[in-house]
Amino acid sequence: MSNRVVIVTGAARGLGAVVARHFHCNGYKVALADIAIDAAHTLAAELSADQETACAIELDVTRKADFEAARDALIGRWGHVDVLVNNAGASKVVPVMEITAEQFDQVIDINLRSVLFGCQVFGQYFADRGAGRIVNIASLAGQNGGSATGAHYAAAKGGAITLTKVFARDLAARGVTVNAISPGPLDLPIVHESVPADKLDTVIASIPVGRLGSADYVAQMALLLASGDAYFANGACWDVNGGLYMR
Ligand SMILES: NC(=O)c1ccc[n+]([C@@H]2O[C@H](COP(=O)([O-])OP(=O)(O)OC[C@H]3O[C@@H](n4cnc5c(N)ncnc54)[C@H](O)[C@@H]3O)[C@@H](O)[C@H]2O)c1
Repeated sequence: MSNRVVIVTGAARGLGAVVARHFHCNGYKVALADIAIDAAHTLAAELSADQETACAIELDVTRKADFEAARDALIGRWGHVDVLVNNAGASKVVPVMEITAEQFDQVIDINLRSVLFGCQVFGQYFADRGAGRIVNIASLAGQNGGSATGAHYAAAKGGAITLTKVFARDLAARGVTVNAISPGPLDLPIVHESVPADKLDTVIASIPVGRLGSADYVAQMALLLASGDAYFANGACWDVNGGLYMR
């Protein structure tokens, strides 16, 4: 068991839960930060019954104060934090011409303000320590515009990729790297819940490799970018999309 500590937002389910499991399996102490606190507690207890190496933290990524409280709580619990994975995200299917100001703000808040606040709070803390890793989970939609019913989500994810570069440049000289991972459609519950089966077949047929992406692989990439050796990978957007978008 190493003494490295990671905080993963949106870790109660989906990709965040897979990422949290991977870091834990690889010797990290893991904080599962989510608004779905009961589910986060359940997973934390499964990973570490005595909470020695995994804990749940109630955190709303739209609130900077929640990131600050989580940072302080983790320093109190485990002495330090080494890695932030900004994973929490959400969207609503709305045709671009019909998105209301409220819907736009909500999706921007969860997918973009979250990255700003996470990078501000943990970026500053990591810079003060002289070491740290931030991995922002973006999306293919942030690169290619996504679909006409997800403009707010695509705009937010595009912004997350841009913020990744800004923070990467700002923090690089102080031992902190910031990278984005940009997945295409993954084989995760949310995809099966939100896309009707016949439409999903069409989506899969459009992916050059002919199948949905693996959340495990995204988690492995996050783990790699979080390592101390990854100091030269900085400010990049790592594409994991089966060839849907090549640049
Ligand atoms: N699933 C995919 O195919 C896919 C593809 C590309 C990118 N992504 C990105 O991966 C990330 C995870 O997606 P997922 O598919 O696991 O989604 P999911 O809906 O299954 O899980 C999202 C998690 O985030 C939490 N969450 C939502 N709002 C929050 C908030 N305000 N504060 C804290 N936690 C909050 C939820 O409770 C949930 O546990 C997102 O950023 C998403 O945009 C997913």
